[in-house]
Parts: sequence; structure tokens; C-alpha cells
Amino acid sequence: MSSHQSEPDGHYFSPRPEVASEPGAVELVLPEGRLIRLATDRGVFSGDRVDPGTRALLVEGPEVTGPVVADVGCGYGPIAVALALRGGPDVQVWAVDVNERARALCAANAEANGVADQVRVVAPDEVPADLVVDQIWSNPPIRIGKPALHDLLVRWLDRLRPGTGTAELVVQKHLGADSLAKWLDDQGWRTTRRASRGGYRILHVRASAAGGDGSRDGGDGESGEESPK
Ligand SMILES: C[S@@+](CC[C@H](N)C(=O)[O-])C[C@H]1O[C@@H](n2cnc3c(N)ncnc32)[C@H](O)[C@@H]1O
Repeated sequence: MSSHQSEPDGHYFSPRPEVASEPGAVELVLPEGRLIRLATDRGVFSGDRVDPGTRALLVEGPEVTGPVVADVGCGYGPIAVALALRGGPDVQVWAVDVNERARALCAANAEANGVADQVRVVAPDEVPADLVVDQIWSNPPIRIGKPALHDLLVRWLDRLRPGTGTAELVVQKHLGADSLAKWLDDQGWRTTRRASRGGYRILHVRASAAGGDGSRDGGDGESGEESPK
């Protein structure tokens, strides 16, 4: 994750940003060459430029393998919109964020780029309890703190389709990418480094064979928290 954020105007992960709206726009050239335009604002993550970690994830990430994909922490939607375009009409993208301004932008950006019917933008408590996901892509909110981040990742990785589901996470090296990779691996999700690019690691994470049924081992105790089952 980039250190370039909407602070000190307020946390980009506030449910309702207090900072006044100041609409803007950014352009993003997707790795396949397509240029997309995305509406942004203050009070959302990296609202004045596409985050370099997000760019690294889109460049280094694999093919989109649906049919069900999730962008965990979608912000204004650069990843969610790119996944829908890249995956084609048979791929459904769940775009999830705590920040209501970010969610509104993500929905508007999906609409403006012709993929509104593929991108479902929701708050975390609107995600169906029985959702099974084939692929997760995320530039996760490292700054919410390690316990909350671990809790978020456990909740989502447990939604991966058992045996075949995968996740792609971009994390800045100096914000703990390697220790996060070790923690994930210790929890029972096989985690490897897909790529290293400009200070970012792209982590490739595999679903456990049995899915979120408590079969993973207990980890190394680094987080001191339990899987929420
Ligand atoms: C590093 S930003 C990435 C935003 C966007 N995907 C991008 O690449 O520009 C992480 C996002 O996670 C969101 N977030 C924080 N806590 C969350 C949670 N518990 N569930 C879902 N999203 C969360 C933040 O509001 C923020 O938009």
C-alpha cells in the first residue's frame, strides 16, 4: 500500500469521510492498453492519482478467473473496474469497502466504464454469509492495524473456493509485506511472492484444501487473535 493517502484530512477508511467533497478524476492505462477514466474525491484512498501499488497489482496480476471475483477494499474502484473489463461479461466482481464515498464512486465508475452489471458494490455487512469467491484481488488497508487487517484477511480468505481459490495482494515491502506473507503461510494459506515491483510485493495466496472450516493450523501466534468462526 502506498503512504500517499487522504490524511491528515481524515482516514481514508472512515465510513463517512468528514472532509468536504472535492470531485476529481484520474486516468488509468490498463496493462492491456485500454485507457479508463475514473471519478475520485477527497476522503478516499489515493484520490489524486492511481496508487502505484494498485498499478503494480494490475500489471503483475494473473488472468482474471471467475466466475466470482472480489476486490476487498475497493476504494473508488480502479481494481474492480479493471477486473470486470479484463474478465469479461461472465465475471462478477464484488467490490467491498467501509467508506461510503468510495463505494459511491466505485459504483459510478463501473457505470461510466460500461460494467455496472458486473460490479456489485457493497459495504462489508452486505456481503452474503455464504458467498464463495474464486479469486480475490486487494490492495489491503494496512493502516487499519495488524489485528484488524488479519481479521479482514481471515474473513475473506475463508471465502475462497476450497482447493482452487486464489488471492492476489499488493503490499509495500516497508509496510511489512514479507511478515504478512509469513503470517498467511503460517495460518495455512500457501503464500508465495508472485512479483516484486517498485517497493511492492504481489503476494499469491492459495485457498486451503478444505476452505474456511477450521482446518487451518493455529499459526505462529504473532497476531494473538483467533479465526472468527
Ligand atoms: C489501500 S486502499 C485501496 C483502495 C483501492 N482498491 C485502490 O486500489 O485505490 C484500501 C481500502 O480498504 C478499505 N477498507 C478499510 N477497512 C475495510 C474493511 N474492513 N472492509 C473493506 N474495506 C475496507 C478502505 O476504505 C480503502 O478504501
